Amino acid sequence: MKKVNVPSASSPFVVFLFALLQVSATHTKAQADRVDPLLPVCKTVGGGSTYFGVDFCMSALGSDNRAHHDEGYGALSIIAVDLVAANATSTGAKITGLLKKAAGKEDDDASLLSCQALYSGILDLLPGCTAAINGGKFDRAALSLEKAASAANECEDQFRSHSEASPLTVENGFAFKLAKLAVALLRFAS
Ligand SMILES: *[C@@H]1O[C@H](CO)[C@@H](O)[C@H](O)[C@H]1NC(C)=O
Repeated sequence: MKKVNVPSASSPFVVFLFALLQVSATHTKAQADRVDPLLPVCKTVGGGSTYFGVDFCMSALGSDNRAHHDEGYGALSIIAVDLVAANATSTGAKITGLLKKAAGKEDDDASLLSCQALYSGILDLLPGCTAAINGGKFDRAALSLEKAASAANECEDQFRSHSEASPLTVENGFAFKLAKLAVALLRFAS
């Protein structure tokens, strides 16, 4: 009979192989644990949305550590509101910078000044929005968030109506989608 050379269980190669399998299994499990609570939520709110996709929902909410714990829809909508606030704050700062550069060119100033007002309007809405969510007044919060989404679109429209290239397309898109994400989460909040 031919002797088959099978590595014995104690051979360094087999030990190495088992260690490798274990590391990769642990790694996969850790990743699954981290992603799992958000995936069903994002599939629910983003799967049928025309405003944002599952990927946007996952990366937006996933950027906040709070979202990795098993949060409910209401808590997640507050996180989305916070993301709108962070975005709108940085957009406001960008607009201030652009206004300094554009000083003198009247058309640019007009669009940017409108956007500045629109974004400070968005920031004014958000604290009341969070308070409404905490108080269970989800419809009222959703209404404010719809206003925030419209304001972001209006900013983009300013440039379009002046036939200018918008320097804020990315920012307006984020603010719009984040506000719509918060609205979508609120539909499932209880
Ligand atoms: C704005 O939101 C987008 C989408 O969540 C994110 O990628 C970006 O980092 C945010 N920007 C700021 C300044 O918060």
